[in-house]
Amino acid sequence: DQVSFEDRHQMPYVQAVIHEVQRVADTAPLSLFHCTTKDTELMGYSIPRGTVIIPNLSSVLFEEGQWKSPHVFDPENFLNEKQEFVKPEAFMPFSTGQRMCLGEGLARMEYIYCSWS
Ligand code: HEM
Repeated sequence: DQVSFEDRHQMPYVQAVIHEVQRVADTAPLSLFHCTTKDTELMGYSIPRGTVIIPNLSSVLFEEGQWKSPHVFDPENFLNEKQEFVKPEAFMPFSTGQRMCLGEGLARMEYIYCSWS
């Protein structure tokens, strides 16, 4: 039988490799730029209306303290001690929040498909 998207939960190591490739590849390091539409206060900082916001996704994908091996390719970054697949909170290559990538589901399916084609 051919492997399909539904089989991914039985394949923790493959899942870990795919996610680790995406982490290290860091394809959208600065996400998409945004702009505040009104005066905003965030964590004590005042950000005036019309400020360009440049998210830094690389900084979390390689952040020390968030990953077992932040600076090298290592599928163990996505495996717990029982070799189960786990996705750390810092994994956000599709960004986060209300405007995060709409194509995430499709992109994920294509990853699985491409790794067997
Ligand atoms: C691995 C592949 C992809 C990566 C890493 C990626 C990453 C991103 C990132 C970082 C953003 C910015 C989110 C933000 O502004 O906070 C974004 C936005 C977006 N992406 Fe993707 N993307 C991928 C594939 C796709 C695909 C396949 C589609 C559509 C079929 C897609 C559609 C969109 C759309 C429509 C937005 C804008 C969402 C909004 O502004 O509300 N992306 N993507």
